[in-house]
Amino acid sequence: MNAPLVDPFQRAIRYLRLSVTDRCDFRCVYCMSENMTFLPKKELLTLEELDRLCSAFVRLGVEKLRITGGEPLVRRDIMTFFQGMSRHLESGALRELTLTTNGSQLERFAGALAAAGVRRVNVSLDTLDEEKFARVTRWGRLPQVLRGLDAAQAAGLRVKLNAVALKGFNEDELLTLTEYCAERGMDLTWIEVMPMGDIGNEDRLGQYWSLRDLRADLARHYTVTDLPDDTGGPARYVRLEETGQRIGFITPLSHNFCESCNRVRVTCTGEIYTCLGQEGKSDLRAPLRGSEGDGPLEEAIRAAIALKPKGHDFDYSRQSVDGRVSRHMSHTGG
Ligand code: GTP
Ligand code: 5AD
Ligand code: SF4
Repeated sequence: MNAPLVDPFQRAIRYLRLSVTDRCDFRCVYCMSENMTFLPKKELLTLEELDRLCSAFVRLGVEKLRITGGEPLVRRDIMTFFQGMSRHLESGALRELTLTTNGSQLERFAGALAAAGVRRVNVSLDTLDEEKFARVTRWGRLPQVLRGLDAAQAAGLRVKLNAVALKGFNEDELLTLTEYCAERGMDLTWIEVMPMGDIGNEDRLGQYWSLRDLRADLARHYTVTDLPDDTGGPARYVRLEETGQRIGFITPLSHNFCESCNRVRVTCTGEIYTCLGQEGKSDLRAPLRGSEGDGPLEEAIRAAIALKPKGHDFDYSRQSVDGRVSRHMSHTGG
């Protein structure tokens, strides 16, 4: 294991989230507007550049690499990249190679992901109702995603579902989603909707369903026990005693977890964002392209981490959508 990078607040940075494309085959209403424009493909880092970039982070102590998008599995030849990364798993430098996906392409890729050393996947799924799924994703087909989940489990991947908690949309599916996950041995994590990007006419404040309320609803049906906060991730977990399953809550708005933040994000164009909820970024593409050696790139990574802010400023408390950032979630992959 390599020594980690440490930020100005003494947080060790062990986790890189890399977005390999800004494109997605869905347009979830809280994520993108319907007529979202995507970057010209020539702006993207090549697969070789993505490999060099991640390898530099691994040398600098990153142990967990999560591939995101947009939808990572729509990037052409992305399996070549996963296969390349598996050498860092084999050497022991990387402890985990994983991805967050909308599941639409999992049926096709689950086997290859498992063969490249991926052990688990996080799949975004907000509803189990076909018509509502088509509405929230604007045209996605639920059965395709459900087949993807089956394929992932059949390939031996552990699956965690991420559901964005949306008022008036999936409040009535708390129990259905819980039961679906219990039956299949999947973890389920709820996410508070965050004010990111221009999404057209959608009403952010109206979408917000506090996870405090969600948890209280859950406690009316199950015995809910808190689990120790030791995952190193933003989710806090509880166990439902009746089923034994774990339910996670990602609550950037009602409970801020910034002080234990261990991560940075890199976009598909090579910009590093050291906080999801802040605009600050630095460029890694110029140092990557400007030199065949990785010295300048590593320097640029160190310099960026030295600027990592203390935390985000998301805030719904004044009944307005404050602290919003203008970029879309899909830009940095959540
Ligand atoms: P695990 O490895 O399973 O713990 O995954 P994870 O929660 O780190 O990753 P995932 O992609 O499943 O994250 C789910 C969502 O949580 C993201 O898409 C974001 O919406 C939110 N999230 C993750 N990390 C952060 C963070 O550092 N800050 C904030 N505000 N939200 C985050
Ligand atoms: N707020 C919260 N979660 C979001 N996601 C996308 N946009 C938002 C938002 N504005 C989630 C997706 C997926 C993850 C990558 O981010 O549903 O689970
Ligand atoms: Fe695509 Fe995920 Fe955004 Fe939905 S939330 S549009 S699946 S990137």
